[in-house]
Amino acid sequence: MSRFWSALVADLSPYVPGEQPRLGGLVKLNTNENPYPPSPAVAEAIRAALGADGGALRLYPDPQSAVLCTAIAQREGLAPEQVFVGNGSDEVLAFAFQGLLAQSRPLRFPDVTYSFYPTWCRLYGIAFETVPLGDDFALRVDDYAGGGPVVLPNPNAPTGRAISRAQLARLASANADWPVVIDEAYVEFGAESAVPLVAAHPNLLVVRTLSKSHALAGLRVGYALGQAPLVEALVRLKDSFNSYPLDRLAQAGAVAALRDESWFARARDAVMASREQLSRGLAALGFEVLPSLANFVFARHPGHDGAALAQALRERAIVVRHFAKPRIEPWLRITVGTPQQCAALLAAAREIVTGCDRHGA
Ligand SMILES: Cc1ncc(COP(=O)(O)O)c(C=O)c1O
Repeated sequence: MSRFWSALVADLSPYVPGEQPRLGGLVKLNTNENPYPPSPAVAEAIRAALGADGGALRLYPDPQSAVLCTAIAQREGLAPEQVFVGNGSDEVLAFAFQGLLAQSRPLRFPDVTYSFYPTWCRLYGIAFETVPLGDDFALRVDDYAGGGPVVLPNPNAPTGRAISRAQLARLASANADWPVVIDEAYVEFGAESAVPLVAAHPNLLVVRTLSKSHALAGLRVGYALGQAPLVEALVRLKDSFNSYPLDRLAQAGAVAALRDESWFARARDAVMASREQLSRGLAALGFEVLPSLANFVFARHPGHDGAALAQALRERAIVVRHFAKPRIEPWLRITVGTPQQCAALLAAAREIVTGCDRHGA
């Protein structure tokens, strides 16, 4: 606290990201990174974008990220003016909150969801209401009838549960006079995307990221897809805030990642296969595991407290995410790792829940 702070800063309650441990040797399953490296074409493109001796860095990047917007538009079957790119989907979402979701009616989102949403609401002075998920953490679209802005992740985080494209269409239609933002940070791991609905729904904005699907969390590239007037709102905000959110290296690396569809598909398939194995393995140990279409699973053990389980895993060099929050206190969010990482998690979990070490002692 300082007397030099503005009233806004004094009132903020900033988002707390998952730990990025400095210690090596940990099995890191806490922030939903892709366990596989990005396409080798990414590093090559970044080297090329540097120019000889890094000389290209002298010059500002393309403020419109035109090549990247075109590559995304081609992949999604949209026009480049239906694409907005930003510094990670967190930045894109922040623009959507400020530029679209601040309306005369309160913004609605699930009670259990991405915890950045209330932070942005407070930052931008947006009134909000949380809509309870069902007992099984299922999202019921009918709970969002009545008209008003909506934001939700599909699949939801941290539950991993997804709704169908038909349900997304119902949600957009039921709130046709209000912006509806679908946060598809995890959609590439098996859920149905809302992108095919963009043509018929002028109120629909879909937000994506390359952080998880394309293993580029460190490069910070996110994007939004929607009809041109919605995208224009985000462009107007960006150009009133920072004209160059994506540097030269990020633009070049992202384009290369998007062009290597087969690399992306192989890693995605591997993550999805590991997710099923991990879910089965946890269930066999007595965990309750929600059906996930994301690159993480949400699980709890009836005989163990969530925080204590996370701590016991940490003592065995495995980091998972625990949220000390209403309704989800008993649960752990576990990122799907490589088969070896998942095996290490299962071995440690077995030790903890059975009270036996690996040799049955
Ligand atoms: C639901 C959801 N949306 C958006 C993001 C932001 O991702 P990024 O800023 O890396 O694109 C995350 C990150 O964990 C997330 O869980």
